[in-house]
Amino acid sequence: MITVIANLKGGSGKSTVAFNLGVWLLKKGHPVAAYDLDPQLTLSDIATVRREEGYSPPLQVYLAQEALADHLRYHPGEVIVDVGVANMPRMKEAISVAHRVIIPVPPSQPDVWATQRFMAMIKDAASKDNHPEILAFINRADTHHAVRESDEAEEALGMLPGVTVLPHRLYQRTIYRRSLSEGMAVFEIWPNCKAAREFDAFASSLFPELAKINTGRK
Ligand SMILES: Nc1ncnc2c1ncn2[C@@H]1O[C@H](COP(=O)(O)OP(=O)(O)OP(=O)(O)O)[C@@H](O)[C@H]1O
Ligand SMILES: [Mg+2]
Repeated sequence: MITVIANLKGGSGKSTVAFNLGVWLLKKGHPVAAYDLDPQLTLSDIATVRREEGYSPPLQVYLAQEALADHLRYHPGEVIVDVGVANMPRMKEAISVAHRVIIPVPPSQPDVWATQRFMAMIKDAASKDNHPEILAFINRADTHHAVRESDEAEEALGMLPGVTVLPHRLYQRTIYRRSLSEGMAVFEIWPNCKAAREFDAFASSLFPELAKINTGRK
């Protein structure tokens, strides 16, 4: 399956989610090809740190290349694509063959508006005979129950036509910053922390058939 992680806005957590999801799938024993189509090459840099530190298994990251759509289509195993609007032509190409597009959305009204605009771009990019499922979720949700922004943003996302809102949020947790700088997924750094449990619930909702596979961690 080709899963594109994209958003119109920068800094919403695309690379963070792509990296952690890639490692989650690998730990389930599933082959993964990750594509970093963003000129910043963040995902590629994280995978390099991971390889240099000797963490196993390594995440194989491919870069933008000619005939990208064919490369994505013919990869065996799961394909995870990290792309932003900095590379619009590649983003359109990836969406034209994607089975689903996952949009991380920080909990704010401007982010919801941007998602609405992004929906139009996705529709534009989807080819005549490919209509990817569009899944949005709140990333960096506030951890304090009295703060209502995440509920409000989630509700607003749910009103956008054509968008399915994932039932599992990822909360604002400092361990995600470590994850990127150390090349380890949050559930590798601290297997039973809140972020690890939240990420497992999130990834399991995306890949329910893999949810029950034991990765050997306690
Ligand atoms: N749930 C979270 N909790 C805390 N920090 C987070 C979370 N998700 C992402 N971050 C942090 O937010 C910053 C931006 O995340 P990331 O680089 O993944 O976003 P991006 O959408 O890929 O950005 P860009 O558009 O620049 O490619 C990073 O420092 C990352 O560690
Ligand atoms: Mg990024």
